[in-house]
Amino acid sequence: DSIQINIKNLAGIVSEEEILRKSELATSANNALHDGTREGSDFLGWVDLPSSITEEEFRDIEEAATVLRTHCDVVVVVGIGGSYLGARAVIDALTNSFDWLQPEKKRKNPVILYAGNNISEDYLSEMIDYLENKEFGIINISKSGTTTEPAIAFRLLKNLLEKKVGNEESKKRIVAITDATKGALRTLADSEGYKTFIIPDNIGGRYSVLTPVGLLPIAVAGINIRKLVTGAAEIEKATDKTVSFDYNLPAIYAVIRNELYRRGKKIEILVNYHPKLHFLAEWWKQLFGESEGKDQMGIFPAAVDFTADLHSMGQWIQEGERTIFETVISIKEPNKKVLVPHDEVNLDGLNYLKGKRVDEVNKMAELGTRLAHVDGGVPNILIEIPELNEKYIGQLIYFFEKACGISGYLLGVNPFNQPGVEAYKSNMFALLEKPGYEEATKSIKSKL
Ligand code: PA5
Repeated sequence: DSIQINIKNLAGIVSEEEILRKSELATSANNALHDGTREGSDFLGWVDLPSSITEEEFRDIEEAATVLRTHCDVVVVVGIGGSYLGARAVIDALTNSFDWLQPEKKRKNPVILYAGNNISEDYLSEMIDYLENKEFGIINISKSGTTTEPAIAFRLLKNLLEKKVGNEESKKRIVAITDATKGALRTLADSEGYKTFIIPDNIGGRYSVLTPVGLLPIAVAGINIRKLVTGAAEIEKATDKTVSFDYNLPAIYAVIRNELYRRGKKIEILVNYHPKLHFLAEWWKQLFGESEGKDQMGIFPAAVDFTADLHSMGQWIQEGERTIFETVISIKEPNKKVLVPHDEVNLDGLNYLKGKRVDEVNKMAELGTRLAHVDGGVPNILIEIPELNEKYIGQLIYFFEKACGISGYLLGVNPFNQPGVEAYKSNMFALLEKPGYEEATKSIKSKL
């Protein structure tokens, strides 16, 4: 009862021998993650994080979650990138898709909204209108504490909350998650007296979902964070230094994707067959894209939601440029059961499916697509989990984190920095005439 990986459909592009030939390199990359012997060793706090979260830390998060759940019908998670996507991935995957549409009294959990992940004036304005008559709270997340997008959103939402419920009540409804000592958010949280959680120095944003960055919003959404972390800890153990390459699933996945990349497969498409997994793919895109896309190298991580995208991107995948491979996340057993009903008239011709589970149709779409795409020259890696629950999402999270670290080392990059994200910020600050950017402002304006 664990995550599994099926590598039998690589379209003849990489053989088992070729994979095994890389086992030593992959094992050495895995060891380096545990020993901190390669680039980025300051950012390896995530490696043994699942097994090291203490009872006290769980309780602290659960208690803060209870306060927010008690005071608020809506909780806004303010953050961007690694300070946003992990929580949303887990919350979307593990909560009822329609619960948020229920009237407040019937709803089991607060509605979770997200802000600070864009700078859209309409988005913020519409959110403020919506929150005007709601009992809401805020989880403000920023490791640096200085990121522009969440800072703007927080300023607006804090003003609204203070206007609505007053300063004292606001303090109960705002939690800040940031650096232990540095950054504007730390200064603000300390001066206002907000409840705070610390993002450890040695864990980068995109690896932080199992810190309070992810765990607090996830707990507020009513999800069992202990089970989530247990799942992650299982894969931590299943990939430690004592485990040989043949059993180290993230290492095998990392080798295959690197071998495919070396053979011209420059784009990896993460495929899901359940809309609840859409944001897991967004999280995965950030994890791999930001970790590997540097030094003019790196697989481009893309994602599709099937079967919806089979009716749009399916054409490209089947017959477009052969530079892609697919990694499918497959869920063996859905949580619910719905049968295709019988219809006397059968005008839609669907009676041949009557009495079958909807998931059987989904599974045949999945199998049929895999066979068609492999026939079309698209290698396929299949990652299977038994069902969608906390434990297996936890397993998937650690599986991908570990794979990403190993894969980055195999590629020859530092998977734990992101120097390239600064370029847009400097231009934006120069264009906005931020104090300190006077020279840059002159220079950029002369180019316009
Ligand atoms: O993975 C990363 O480091 C980034 O995506 C950051 O999480 C993102 O830029 C947000 O940064 P911060 O948490 O400092 O506001």
